[in-house]
Amino acid sequence: MPAETTFILNHDTISTTESPGTLVLDYLRRKQKLVGTKEGCKEGDCGACVVLVGELTGASVSYKPVTSCLMPLGELHGKHLVTIEALRLDQLTPVQQAIVDEGGSQCGFCTPGIVMSLTGYLLQPAGGLDDAGIKYALGGNLCRCTGYGSLKRAGGQILQEVDAGSAGSGQDRVSNLIAQQVVPDYFSQIPARLRSIPPIQRGNGAAQSAYIIAGGTDLYVQRGGEIPYTEVEILNRRQELRGISVEGEHVRVGALTTFEEFAQNTDIQKIIPRIGEYMMRNASWQIRNRATLGGNIVNASPIGDMTALLLALDTTLTLEDGLKKRNVALRSFFKGYKQLDKTPAEVLTEIMFSVPDSGTRVHFEKVSKRKTLDIASVNSAIRIKTASGKIVRADLSFGGVAPIPLFMQNTCDFLAGKQIEMKTVLAAIDVAHSESAPISDIRGSADYKRLLVRQLLIAHFTTLFPDQLTVKDFYETH
Ligand SMILES: Cc1cc2nc3c(=O)[nH]c(=O)nc-3n(C[C@H](O)[C@H](O)[C@H](O)COP(=O)(O)OP(=O)(O)OC[C@H]3O[C@@H](n4cnc5c(N)ncnc54)[C@H](O)[C@@H]3O)c2cc1C
Ligand code: FES
Ligand code: FES
Repeated sequence: MPAETTFILNHDTISTTESPGTLVLDYLRRKQKLVGTKEGCKEGDCGACVVLVGELTGASVSYKPVTSCLMPLGELHGKHLVTIEALRLDQLTPVQQAIVDEGGSQCGFCTPGIVMSLTGYLLQPAGGLDDAGIKYALGGNLCRCTGYGSLKRAGGQILQEVDAGSAGSGQDRVSNLIAQQVVPDYFSQIPARLRSIPPIQRGNGAAQSAYIIAGGTDLYVQRGGEIPYTEVEILNRRQELRGISVEGEHVRVGALTTFEEFAQNTDIQKIIPRIGEYMMRNASWQIRNRATLGGNIVNASPIGDMTALLLALDTTLTLEDGLKKRNVALRSFFKGYKQLDKTPAEVLTEIMFSVPDSGTRVHFEKVSKRKTLDIASVNSAIRIKTASGKIVRADLSFGGVAPIPLFMQNTCDFLAGKQIEMKTVLAAIDVAHSESAPISDIRGSADYKRLLVRQLLIAHFTTLFPDQLTVKDFYETH
C-alpha cells in the first residue's frame, strides 16, 4: 500500500493512497472530476493543464504555475494545489474579466491554463508587474484559435487594474490579492493549514523503485504510461537536495534545484551575469519551475542545455546510494549514448563548480528551430580565462554534435596560450570540426550542425571579446 499523500486541493484537505506516480492531471480529471484543468499535449508543450502549486517558504506560501501533466501526485504532500475551480468567486477575477473584455477566449480550451499562469504571475512572492512579466508568464501557454493580440491586451488591462506589487511580498501580497478578488479568502489560512500536515522526511518508501522522479519533465514524456503503475522514488520529498550555496571558492547546487531557481539566484546571477537571458531559451516558465539540473544531467540527452553549461564550468557531481558517496567529474560521467558512470541505486545529490575569477568569462549559446520553448539543434558553452590578450585556459562544450554532451578537450588544448584574434578562432573551428562528429538526425543534417559549430564558436568570441573581435570582421573576410 503506497504511503498516504496529504495536501490541500483548492479549499479541501485531501489524504489519498493513490499511487504516488499518478499524474496530477489524471488525478484531477479522473478521480476528482475537476475537469477545468484541460488535457492537451500531455507533454508539457501546450499549457492547457497548468495549475498552481503552493509551497511553504518560511511564514508564507509561494505559488508556482506548473504543468500538471508531468507532475507526480506523491509530490503534493504538504502543498497547496490550486486549479481553475478555486477561482469560482462571486464575480470573475480581474484576470478572467480582462480576458473576457479583450475577447481573449474563443473555444476556451487554453483559457484555464492561461488564467492560472497569469494568476501565478500576480502571486509571485515579490516584485512589480510589467509587460515583459506577462509575456514571461504566458511563455508556456499555446492558444490555437484566438491568437495572442487579445491576450496581450488582456495583460495590459490586468497591469492597469491589479495592484500586486505595492503590498510587498509573501503573505502581504496574497492578502492584497484576496482583497482584489484575484484569489479566494481562504488563501489566508493556507500557511497555517499546510504547517499542520506532518512532513514526510525521505522518499516515499519505495526502496527498489523502478523510477526515480525529480521534476518528471523528461520521465513522464518518455514513460508516462507506466509510471503510475510502478514503485517510484519521489526525490522532491528530499528537501536536503535543494538549494544553492557559495562556500569560499565553490558553488554547491542541490541536484533538485530547478532551472528557474538557478536563474533567479542572486549568487548565480553574479557568476553567470546572462543566466536570465540564457534561461529564456530553455523550455517555458511552467517547465522551468519543475525541470531540475540533476534531471538534465542524468537524463543524458546530448542536447541538455544546463548540462552544456555545467560541462564548461568543470562541474563535479556527488552520487550517493545510501551506503556510500563518491564524486565524479561531469566530463567523465557520460560513457556513451545514455550510458552513465552511475549505478541504478545511485542518486545525484549535488553539483559543484568553482566560482570563476575576475579574469574569467562564461557564455552559453543555443540554436533551435523556434527561438523559445524548443530543444536545441546544437548548443554550446564556454568558460575562458584570459590575461594580457591571451587565453590562459578555455573550457568548451558542445551539445548535439555527438551521442553525448561533448567536452571539447582538443579544442580547449588548442586554445590555451593563443592570442584572442580571428586566426585563433578560425583555427579552433577546424579543431572543433575534427573533434565533433555530428550525425544527421531530426534536429538537423550533419552539415548544418558543422556549420553551427563554426557559428557558435564565432558567437562565443564576438560576444565575450567585442573589443577585439566583431561578427562583421568574420563575414567580411571569410
Ligand atoms: C516542454 C518541454 C520543454 C523542454 N525544454 C528543454 C530545454 O529547452 N532545454 C533542456 O535542456 N531541456 C528541456 N526539456 C527537458 C527537461 O525539462 C530537462 O531535461 C529537465 O532538466 C529534466 O529534469 P527533471 O527534473 O524533470 O528530470 P526527470 O524527468 O524527473 O528525470 C529525468 C531522468 O533523470 C533521472 N534523475 C533525475 N534526477 C535525478 C537524480 N538527482 N539522481 C538520479 N537520477 C535522477 C530520472 O530517474 C530520469 O531517468 C524540456 C522538457 C519539456 C517537457
Ligand atoms: S497537457 Fe499540454 S502541457 Fe500539459
Ligand atoms: S481559445 Fe481556443 S485554443 Fe485558445
